[in-house]
Amino acid sequence: MIIIGIDTSCDDTSVGVVVNGEIKANLIHTHTEHAAWGGVVPNLAKRAHEENLPLVWASALKTAGIAENEIDLIAVTSEPGLAPALWAGRNFAAQKGQELNVPIKEINHLDGHLAAALYKVDDEVFPACGLIISGGHTELLHMRSLIDRDIIGQTRDDAIGEAYDKVARLLGLGFPGGAALSKLADEGDANRFPLPAAMLQSGDLDVSYSGLKAAAARLVESLGGVEKLSNQDKCDIAASFERAAFKTLLTKIERALQQKSYRSIVVGGGVAANPKLRSQIESLAQSHSIPAHFPPSLDLCSDNGAMVALVAKN
Ligand code: KG4
Ligand code: ZN
Repeated sequence: MIIIGIDTSCDDTSVGVVVNGEIKANLIHTHTEHAAWGGVVPNLAKRAHEENLPLVWASALKTAGIAENEIDLIAVTSEPGLAPALWAGRNFAAQKGQELNVPIKEINHLDGHLAAALYKVDDEVFPACGLIISGGHTELLHMRSLIDRDIIGQTRDDAIGEAYDKVARLLGLGFPGGAALSKLADEGDANRFPLPAAMLQSGDLDVSYSGLKAAAARLVESLGGVEKLSNQDKCDIAASFERAAFKTLLTKIERALQQKSYRSIVVGGGVAANPKLRSQIESLAQSHSIPAHFPPSLDLCSDNGAMVALVAKN
């Protein structure tokens, strides 16, 4: 069974190829057009997807060694995401489906992030405590299966990746800056400027990141603005931000694990690429004697087409 997965939900044009459950290609073209605007511009994204899709499609098939007439199914992200960006992918899939006489399957992007975390996992993982941490979502989940799940906690405002990106921008790190901010944090002292971890006493499983982001902005202002910051100042702010962001998340995961008995933790989304967060979630899982599953490679954490094809194979 040869499945092509297409994701154009945000600013990555991606096409993946999955053959009998194995990922054979996962091509991702990240738009550079948005950096100057400090965030993703929906109509720029739509145009970039339309331009990139034929090229990314062709390279993915070439990488996988697949001819168009061998394709059995085209899977495409239908939601959630930026409407004009999603439209570009669905339209391209519809055209290809018609041209090649192949069926189309519409896929939920968040199912994709979770499917990436379960790639090549054969053990029984459900019921699982799921976590989607990306630029658009922060959700804690009770998962009975990949698609049968309830949201048991979520952000009340910004997603964790969005907070990373905004603080990175504040420090002049470009967009999206989550990975760059995390690198700075490696060299920083989290105790120099303690930033607040939100929602620790809220009694529920929700999180919040807008207060942390605002506190980071006030801190930079109180130090005279970003131009006045030394590299070490930036590292110290990044370290504080990251410690507070993790503390909120880990507190809520721990609470979820105490409330119900889970067989595993399943973590997907761009922020799941963060090695420090991974190791802290792994320790938490270990203390409950359960495994934690993450996407096995960086390209499977951020938005990608292979994860969409993986959902369609189920
Ligand atoms: O899943 P994704 O590609 O897109 C959405 O569906 O939103 O996630 C992108 C997010 C961005 O906010 C980016 O800054 C963040 O993931 N990110 C990271 C890291 N790598 C990517 N955040 C923290 N640490 C990282 N290493
Ligand atoms: Zn995503």
